Amino acid sequence: MGVLPFYLLFLLPLLSQAEISSKIGINYGQLGNNLPSPHESINLLTRMKVESVKIYDANPEILNLLSSTNIQASIMIPNNEISTIGSSQMKADEWVRNNVLPYYPKTLIHFLLVGNEVLTGYSEQDQQTWLHLVPAMRRIKRSLKAQNITHIKVGTPLAMDILDSTFPPSAATFRSDIRESVIIPMLEFLHRTKSFFFIDAYTYFPWSSNRQNISLDFALLRGNFYITDPASGLLYTNLLDQMLDSLIFAMSKLGYPNIRLAVSETGWPNSGDIGANIVNAAIYNSNVIRKITAKPPVGTPVRPGVVIPTFIFSLFDENQKTGPEIERHWGLLHPDGTPIYEIDLSK
Ligand SMILES: *[C@@H]1O[C@H](CO)[C@@H](O)[C@H](O)[C@H]1NC(C)=O
Ligand SMILES: *[C@@H]1O[C@H](CO)[C@@H](O)[C@H](O)[C@H]1NC(C)=O
Repeated sequence: MGVLPFYLLFLLPLLSQAEISSKIGINYGQLGNNLPSPHESINLLTRMKVESVKIYDANPEILNLLSSTNIQASIMIPNNEISTIGSSQMKADEWVRNNVLPYYPKTLIHFLLVGNEVLTGYSEQDQQTWLHLVPAMRRIKRSLKAQNITHIKVGTPLAMDILDSTFPPSAATFRSDIRESVIIPMLEFLHRTKSFFFIDAYTYFPWSSNRQNISLDFALLRGNFYITDPASGLLYTNLLDQMLDSLIFAMSKLGYPNIRLAVSETGWPNSGDIGANIVNAAIYNSNVIRKITAKPPVGTPVRPGVVIPTFIFSLFDENQKTGPEIERHWGLLHPDGTPIYEIDLSK
């Protein structure tokens, strides 16, 4: 078993079952001043045999380009539009009319995401948005239904900071400041509309901030280390499962044990801080891809055998992302479209 070039990884689905890659998507962020044009980027995705792409807006050029491909699209309403849409059905209808209908049904819009990590911001304005989030999701769903579009799932990607803790998973609960006001109505909505709970789940961050207690192998899904949840008796071989099951336990405690999960972002940085390098990034992403695309599906200890739609973050390094250095180093590809690292498929 050797190291395969990254691009070969995306040929594998061709060689096995076509549906495999439908479960792994790629996040395509555009916060860079050196990135290929949307046209070139969609060509890259096509050549990589990526079957699902998630963008952070409803960019008309990208959505038009995708209409001549079989790539599924997940589109997003920016955070600063949520309050308006949450308080006006007319505004929700308008958003759908302007951002969905022009591309429907040729562009395969699959998920419509309302905002990005909305519950992570704490400014006064952010906290106003919290309260409009679920109303906005309901209104957008209603707008779609009025157009007889029923297959597009409406959701909102949240970060792991919505939970108070993730260990042991069975002890996890939602943060008390959002539990009653946002999470319960959201769970009701996701359950009723058979949508997904979208979670951005990075093992890198808990590992990098607590390296004394968390083994790198556990964070990289290397599988030669495990912990037991003393209350549930379940065995965890990796930190991603621990994080996802924490979310399932927290939902179950509020009476919603069956809402499906989708991992809207996961990945490992290729540079910029401790443990962030191309070797670890290649190991993490190839292990996640192998786990998520396994036949039969692996699921998690709480939900064995369940498929979890997952989007790797991210297509490109984005040099205009703000924050610590590490934020700008999550890409699979250089801006010229060549792979940043090879992926070890031997484990
Ligand atoms: C939706 O479907 C109903 C029933 O078939 C039809 O009466 C209505 O005109 C449709 N609405 C739109 C916007 O296509
Ligand atoms: C490691 O875990 C122990 C016991 O749970 C805890 O007391 C300690 O604070 C943790 N260390 C770090 C760096 O988080």
